[in-house]
Amino acid sequence: MNNKLHILVTGGAGYIGSHTVVELILQGFRVSIVDNLNNSSIKVLDAIEKITNTKPAFYNFDLCDDIAVNKFVSENNDIAAIIHFAAYKAVGESVEKPLMYYRNNINSLVNVLDNINEKTPINFKGIVFSSSCTVYGQPDILPVTEQSEIKKAESPYGFTKQVCEEILVNNSANVNYVSIALRYFNPIGAHSSALIGELPNGVPNNLVPYITQTGIGKRECLNVFGNDYNTPDGSCIRDFIHVVDLAKAHVASINRLIENRNKSIFEVFNIGTGRGNTVLEVINSFEKVSESKLNYKIVERRKGDIEKIYADTTYANNELGWSAKSSLDDAMLSAWKWELHLKNQNM
Ligand code: NAD
Ligand code: WQD
Repeated sequence: MNNKLHILVTGGAGYIGSHTVVELILQGFRVSIVDNLNNSSIKVLDAIEKITNTKPAFYNFDLCDDIAVNKFVSENNDIAAIIHFAAYKAVGESVEKPLMYYRNNINSLVNVLDNINEKTPINFKGIVFSSSCTVYGQPDILPVTEQSEIKKAESPYGFTKQVCEEILVNNSANVNYVSIALRYFNPIGAHSSALIGELPNGVPNNLVPYITQTGIGKRECLNVFGNDYNTPDGSCIRDFIHVVDLAKAHVASINRLIENRNKSIFEVFNIGTGRGNTVLEVINSFEKVSESKLNYKIVERRKGDIEKIYADTTYANNELGWSAKSSLDDAMLSAWKWELHLKNQNM
């Protein structure tokens, strides 16, 4: 029934986007990617083709370019739904360059919505937006549900996610399509083929790419930011979700839109495993699956880090008919195989 429905994936050449494009194609959707490749590589398209035997249509332009977005929407009046991944995502950089983050993350969404509203494609069902657990800050009660308090944003990046959700709420009230915000927890890992994965630019900020790069010898030593938190081993707790599980949550959301199963014009889902793991547990898992010892040391806490967060995913499980299947070890093994693949490619 879903065959050949046309899905626009903005930021589809990126880390989460590329895994989602694969799952969409495997489920019989026709995909168009719009990406300006500011944080991704054109080579991803060949990898997607290798995995799926299908090359998605690809358009290289900046979603902040209103004229380009207008042209794309005018020429594609069969789009059934949009998944909007395109954004800048580095928390630290957003503190240094807040305007760059406001301009890109907010303008790109506004442009997409504005043009869709002006020339709504026939049978358009709605938009799925990449939000983040960062909107919760340090929650008072764990696990966090979708009703948990939205705290004052701790970074301009986090603020763009809060603002974009609010833009979708306001916009939804005036249009005849539905918006879904998926609040991702900590995505990690790579596709089982090891042909696509995360491509951090320069020194990684995130834990898992830093671990695998240390394991392969690109970095000398992993700094573990603090072991004096109020957690079982003193290191921070996060909800680490395999990126392929996360990709599948997008397909489930698209199916919900297509089948008109939404319960309101704006919906929010937590997308995590529902499980909290400490940083030291992640390191242990890496050592187990890579059969090697990781060079790491405990250092000062990182400024701005929250102590612990993990998701209550009951709502997503029940409403989307989706749940995360992979274990932490599965995810760490896939991340390691991806790092080995990059080494083979001299990347
Ligand atoms: P990514 O940087 O790998 O992918 C984003 C893609 O969007 C890149 O390919 C980039 O080139 C493209 N892009 C950015 N701005 C654009 C623009 N103006 N026009 C066209 N293309 C543009 O990031 P990701 O990890 O795949 O994240 C995808 C989304 O999920 C982002 O919105 C991010 O904020 C959100 N998110 C990510 C995480 C995470 O830890 N990776 C967690 C929560 C939420
Ligand atoms: C995880 C844990 C670190 C690196 C970020 C964004 C968030 C969301 C997900 C987009 C923390 C520790 C890390 C290292 C370490 N992204 N760590 N040494 O901070 O939970 O979330 O990505 O929306 O908005 O803030 O992820 O991977 O950076 O850190 O000890 O070299 O690993 O202190 O406890 P974080 P992370």
